[in-house]
Amino acid sequence: MLKKLLTPLKMGNTTLPNRVIMAPLTRSRAGQPGDIPNALNVAYYTQRASAGMIVTEATQVSRQGQGYALTPGIYTDAQEAGWKKVVQAVHAQYGHIALQLWHVGRISHSLLQENGEAPVAPSALIAKNSQCFVIQPDGTAANVPTEMPRALDTEELPGIVAQYRQAAVRGRRAGFDFLELHAANGYLLNQFLATNSNQRTDAYGGSLENRARLTLEALDAVIEEIGAKQVGVRLSPHFIGMDMADSEAEASALYLAKAFSERGIAYLHIAEPDWAGGPELTPVFRAQIRAAFNGVLIFCGGYTAEEADALMVQGTADAVAFGRPFIANADLVERFRLGAALNTPDRSTFYGGGAHGYTDYPTLDLQPA
Ligand SMILES: Cc1cc2nc3c(=O)[nH]c(=O)nc-3n(C[C@H](O)[C@H](O)[C@H](O)COP(=O)(O)O)c2cc1C
Repeated sequence: MLKKLLTPLKMGNTTLPNRVIMAPLTRSRAGQPGDIPNALNVAYYTQRASAGMIVTEATQVSRQGQGYALTPGIYTDAQEAGWKKVVQAVHAQYGHIALQLWHVGRISHSLLQENGEAPVAPSALIAKNSQCFVIQPDGTAANVPTEMPRALDTEELPGIVAQYRQAAVRGRRAGFDFLELHAANGYLLNQFLATNSNQRTDAYGGSLENRARLTLEALDAVIEEIGAKQVGVRLSPHFIGMDMADSEAEASALYLAKAFSERGIAYLHIAEPDWAGGPELTPVFRAQIRAAFNGVLIFCGGYTAEEADALMVQGTADAVAFGRPFIANADLVERFRLGAALNTPDRSTFYGGGAHGYTDYPTLDLQPA
């Protein structure tokens, strides 16, 4: 018996109908040209509107912030209009939806950048063993190693903050319930936070406070545009993909959690590292994060409904996000309610393609009795 997972949750000024959050999931099916959410994307999100809240796939705040072909953006009028259709369709089903704001930093390639420029990063350090996805000059798509980035000048950082601000303005106009700052999984803000990828000697490098500065400046810009009660942040302490190694991962997450509390943001979303080969978070660290943050706390990574419920009953989490289960089960909440079996996600259709593996997984009412 699930005790809390399917109960309502107050988050900011919104009441979510349940605590089953759809995790952000890159699916690489944005409309082309222009990386614009299209009718197929509308159908996919609408199918999943019974989630307590949907967090959209990571959405680049600028052309510079793109690291994979076919991911959507939120920096052109057409992209904003595309997202507005997604939001309206989800709202028509009484759903709630957050936009994940993304800048990939060094996880990119000159083929994706304006004028073939180098990707940008806190420091000129390549992400070893990391790939991005590009359309090559001959028109074929390929996963290729990320390129050596250029270190951002101090004077350029207000421009990065402005990219997040502009994306927040568009996200607000598109009607999103929440905006989620993506500071996880080895992308730009995480690159600034982590000890190995940030070797800067200015006010944005060195101490933990300095490494956290850009994340907080971007956050403050987003808050100014939409209000703290409609803002969340995703962090991934101990994430080890994308060549990340942060010797102060926990101290940094706890410092940020306190800073988030002071600002009164709606939620903190912790992407746990173990689904991607990292260590398990310890109960001690979970309790510390819980104590440091005064808003809604969401954990994500490899959960079953029962495990998620147990985490809530013991008071560690307010909600849990599900990624792969939502790919294969649009009616995940209903299946949890009924204790029904889940469809198995097909990895071969995670990234790119059309409706197959995207909007055509069977729902319960379509299954033979
Ligand atoms: C296909 C796929 C795409 C993902 N895309 C994103 C993304 O855009 N942003 C993000 O923060 N995490 C992303 N993740 C990580 C998920 O949000 C989640 O943390 C991870 O899948 C673990 O949760 P799960 O075990 O419930 O799937 C992605 C994961 C998968 C499998």
